[in-house]
Amino acid sequence: MRIWHMFRNWLASLSLRWRLTLVVLGLMTALLGGAGLLLSLVTEQALLNNTASSLRREVILTAKGIPGRSFTLSWAPEERKGELPRGFDASVAILRQRLTSLGVNMTILRPDGSVLYPGQATSLAPPPIVLGQSDVTRLLEDGLQGDAYKLGKTAQGQRQLVILVPLVSAERTVALLQVGTPIASIDDFLTTFHILLLVCYLGALCCALVLLFPLVDATLRPLLEMERKSRRIAAGELSLRIDTPKSRDEIGRLAHSFNQMVVQLENAFQRQKQFVSDVSHELRTPLTALSGSLEMLLIGADRGDIGATRRLAKGMYVEVQRMHRLVEDLLSLTRLDAKKLKLRLEAFELQTVFSRIFQQAQQLATGHEIRCSIAPDTPRVYADRDRLQQVLLNIVDNALKFTPSDGQVELTAAPGKQGEVVIAVRDTGQGIPAEALPFIFDRLYRVDPSRSRPFRQGSGNGLGLAIAKELIEAQKGSIQVESTPGKGTTFTLLLRSAPRSSSKDAMALQ
Ligand SMILES: Nc1ncnc2c1ncn2[C@@H]1O[C@H](COP(=O)(O)OP(=O)(O)O)[C@@H](O)[C@H]1O
Ligand SMILES: [Mg+2]
Repeated sequence: MRIWHMFRNWLASLSLRWRLTLVVLGLMTALLGGAGLLLSLVTEQALLNNTASSLRREVILTAKGIPGRSFTLSWAPEERKGELPRGFDASVAILRQRLTSLGVNMTILRPDGSVLYPGQATSLAPPPIVLGQSDVTRLLEDGLQGDAYKLGKTAQGQRQLVILVPLVSAERTVALLQVGTPIASIDDFLTTFHILLLVCYLGALCCALVLLFPLVDATLRPLLEMERKSRRIAAGELSLRIDTPKSRDEIGRLAHSFNQMVVQLENAFQRQKQFVSDVSHELRTPLTALSGSLEMLLIGADRGDIGATRRLAKGMYVEVQRMHRLVEDLLSLTRLDAKKLKLRLEAFELQTVFSRIFQQAQQLATGHEIRCSIAPDTPRVYADRDRLQQVLLNIVDNALKFTPSDGQVELTAAPGKQGEVVIAVRDTGQGIPAEALPFIFDRLYRVDPSRSRPFRQGSGNGLGLAIAKELIEAQKGSIQVESTPGKGTTFTLLLRSAPRSSSKDAMALQ
């Protein structure tokens, strides 16, 4: 267990290339070794089985030709031990003579396994092997199923294959014929075969060792490159990109995604820098105005005229309010970013919200024609009432701000195609240029703040639409804009409608 642990730690400390090479090599060694072992075992088994069945056939054929043979070489139908028939010795002597000339030794055993006529070594036949009682029993039992044999060694160390054939007379087993033949030729063949296998095995491993590392190295080279560059990117070189390999494999896709991630990072970083600079700029404008007014008060530019002092103080108050609004808006966005804003979702009719917006719009309007309508079959909306009102007021305020006094602003609500509620704010104002449309919901973005002159004074800070979008999306709705410069702009909100049950049920669904 400890060794395995140490081995794993050691493997983990290696580079990926070496680890892969070693793991593949290890697997190959094990698989090839296993396959070689299996092949040699199967070959040996097949050769020995074949030798055993040829020996049996040879013995039976040899016995068949004996004149006046007093037994048959077969399996008795059941285990019955009989007396030796007459002429048995003569038949056995002929059989021995013939088998010996074939280089096969022969021993006659009693049915119980004890030796009846021991075998003898001759110049032609090798010395026999003495079988134990258990070997005899096993050979007799297995022999009924097929070619049963036993491998043994003589005192001289020669390997032999031994089989048993029952000798049957009058349907009784009268003796057992034990024959053995040397298997030196099989052993020689197997030795050559094993050497050949070993050579092939080692050759394959050597080839793998030589080819594997360069192959793994070439495959993983883009990863190395990626690792080197990602370290530089992590150190701050955000403009750096990884060379994407041409292959469409996992490494190619990884490099591609990595580059995309760096682009996103760089953009986010850029946006953050831009945002900080924009916020500083936004804060500087009112601060400059404030310090200017204060300076004038300090040097006594109002010359004690109470009217002039009040005018200066009023100007300062307006600037402070502007700063206050900016800080409040920034805080709202921070809360929205951190998902800390608590929404009070409920089902409600749009009438009340619309009439409040209408009243506020009339106070902000400078002669605009304001229209408000809700289509009869508009479902109840499922949203946060106060937040929705805040968003609508912002959009209507924008519409009034960027529409001349003789223009129109229209607020409508209607059912959407998929059962949602569609609220639209339409104006006939100056419109938004097409190139500015993609950025309209960005933080602190205003269409060319220096040149675009709103028709009403007191322009905002460019955070209104960004907050509106975040608020609507937090309520699982969406906001879109369409505009034709010189003709007007339409903001469309898609909001969830309430299920057709009580508002309490709707709350429960949330
Ligand atoms: N109805 C509109 N018509 C023309 N321009 C608009 C309209 N609504 C918004 N805009 C443009 O989008 C910008 C961003 O709007 P907003 O985020 O509400 O900021 P703010 O109102 O504080 O300027 C505005 O400065 C203006 O340039
Ligand atoms: Mg606004």
